[in-house]
Parts: sequence; C-alpha cells; structure tokens
Amino acid sequence: MSRPFERVETEHLKAEKGDYEHFMLKEIFEQPKIAKAVFQGRVDFTNLALNSAAFQDLRDVEIDRVKFIACGTSYHAGWAGTYAFRELAGMPATAEIASEFLNAPVRIDTKTLYVFVSQSGETADAIEPLKFIKAHGGKTFGIVNVVGSSISRLTDFGLFTRAGTEVGVASTKAFTAQLATVTLLALFYSIKRGEDFRKYRSTLEELSKLPDTMNKALAMNDGLAQVAEVFGKYPHIFFLGRGHMLPIAAEAALKFKEITYIHAHAMPLGELKHGTLALIDENCPSVIFLPDDSLYSQNLSSVAEIRARGGKVLAISSKAIGNADWNLVIPEIKGVSFGFAATIVGQLLAYHAAKSLGREIDRPRNLAKSVTVK
Ligand code: G6P
Repeated sequence: MSRPFERVETEHLKAEKGDYEHFMLKEIFEQPKIAKAVFQGRVDFTNLALNSAAFQDLRDVEIDRVKFIACGTSYHAGWAGTYAFRELAGMPATAEIASEFLNAPVRIDTKTLYVFVSQSGETADAIEPLKFIKAHGGKTFGIVNVVGSSISRLTDFGLFTRAGTEVGVASTKAFTAQLATVTLLALFYSIKRGEDFRKYRSTLEELSKLPDTMNKALAMNDGLAQVAEVFGKYPHIFFLGRGHMLPIAAEAALKFKEITYIHAHAMPLGELKHGTLALIDENCPSVIFLPDDSLYSQNLSSVAEIRARGGKVLAISSKAIGNADWNLVIPEIKGVSFGFAATIVGQLLAYHAAKSLGREIDRPRNLAKSVTVK
C-alpha cells in the first residue's frame, strides 16, 4: 500500500540536557510542547475536524474492534486507549502484552484493527506478533515515535507520536504523546461511527487546552519533592485507581520501579479487598488517583478502607481529600485531561524520590531504552 507524504512540523528537539540536571526532567518539561506537536495539522480545533492521511486511509477499512499490542510504558498507553475507544467510539477494545500474544493459540480476526504502540519501533517482543498478524491477514496500525523504524514500516497504517528523541531510559514524553495519539484515533472512530458528538466535542475542547493542563501539573514540581523523599523511604508502595486511572496508576508504578528500585505495585482499587488488603499497614502506603468523576465516591470509600487498616494514603486528585495523609491536588482538571496531568505528577514523584536516593536517573540499572532481543 502506498501512503501519501505527511509533513511533520515538529520542532527539532536536540538531545542536550540544557539547564536540567537530568534528561528525564528535561523530557518531563517538554510535554506541553509535544502535546501541541501531536495535534498540529491533524486537529482543527475551530471546526472540530480531524485531518490526517492515516484517517483517510482508514475511512474505507471495515473494523468492529481494536486490540492494542505493546510492551512496558507503551502497553500502558494502549491500555489507556481501550478506555478511550469504549468511551468515545463505543467499540470493544482490549490491550495485550506483546510478549504474551503468541503464547497460546490465537486466531487473527479480519474485523479487528491491531494497534502496535512503540516508542522505538524496534521492540522484538512486538515485532514478532506484528509479523504473525500480517502473515495471517490481520490489519495493523502503528503508533510509533521513531520515524522509519521497523514497526512503523511493517504496519499497514499509522500515526507518528512526534515526541522527538527521548534519551531517559524511563519513558515520559513518549508516553503522553502516545496517550494523545490513541485518543485521536478513538475520536476518529467516534466520528466514523456516528457516536455521541457532545463527548467528541468536549474531548477535543480538553485536548485543545492540554499544554495548559500539563503546565498546571508541572507547576507542582517544587512542591512535591518533599513528599517524594518520604516515599523514597518505603520498601513497598501501592499505586491504585479505578477505570481510566488504572493504566495511569500502572505507568506511575512502573516509573517508580524503574528509577527508584522500590517495589511499586499497581492494581484496581476494587480488587484490593480480595486478598491484597492483607499487605496494608503503616509501612506500605498507597498512591491513589482520584479524579472528580463518577467513580469519586467509590474511590473515597476505598481511601477510608485503607486508612482503617493503618495504611497511609497519598491522593493525586482534583480536590483535597480530607482523610488522605498527603494531597497532591491538580486544580480544576477533570475528564480526559486528568490522566495526562496525573501522569506528569507520577513522573515527578518518581523522579524526586529517585533523586533523593541518589539513583542513576537517566540510566537505571539492568534496563535498556530499546529491547531488540526476545
Ligand atoms: C523497554 C523500555 C521501556 C519501554 C519498552 C517498550 O523496556 O525500557 O521504557 O516502554 O521497552 O519499548 P517501545 O520502544 O516498544 O515503546
């Protein structure tokens, strides 16, 4: 299939630290600029329209479900994409860890769009299922950062994430660029399928303000260093949420593990009582993602449940929670924007905890930026 050229007006982001102490911090602070680049030329916010060669390619492709396949941070973006698809496009969507995809017999469905999310585009664990799906007639879509990479070339359709070069091994700006891109894809299907236009419009309105939203979260940088240092002293930490906050909690836990080497475990709040609650005590705190949404009161009950067992709670929320031990309040941020803002708060929390521990933040032990072997 031949694709038309797409001009990418993304600013050249030089791989230099500048005034920042670490690449990771620099990359965290680049996110508002990248959010703009993701939408440039693709979203007409005035006329509420989407324009991209990728969307034109997809116009006549009949699919009725979506499966995201990816690893690590990119898997979390795909997982977040499943919520966007269900919410905006009314479509069944699932996410699968790429290294597991072929570990049981699998039938490739021609009405499924298989979406591969990858920063490097070279992850061997993802390339193997991609080749398998293609060989069995499946339709594939790439959400990839590195232009010209294997996954971008092998997939039938795709959108680049335009995050620029990411140097820090712990992925930050590439993740929020992936989140923005999966949301765009879900919005395309919202229109294509004639789903609720009000949701489509309000999501676009929120995305238009994304750089400001992200700046609000970044403004919390200095204030959260102290609480991060406290969290750097615990041996185990839970990262908890419900619904669309689950992949955000999982990504925050992964950031924490990668650069602090502290055991961070993400899980659904509602599942805690089915066994894991036994671990909660004053030495095992929880970071809870608490947006002001329809799940708010259930989340508050969970905070009480944890507090009643002596567990300490750090709430990342849109308004202060009375019985939390620590509050990181991102003011006035709701809806789809909250996930982006809370992600940044989670990145900063991990960064400052790792810094207080004197870790090698940009090059954590045992990890590689791109894993090109199985
Ligand atoms: C490695 C990196 C992670 C990344 C994962 C997937 O494990 O350390 O940061 O999320 O690979 O990489 P990809 O390039 O496919 O997004």
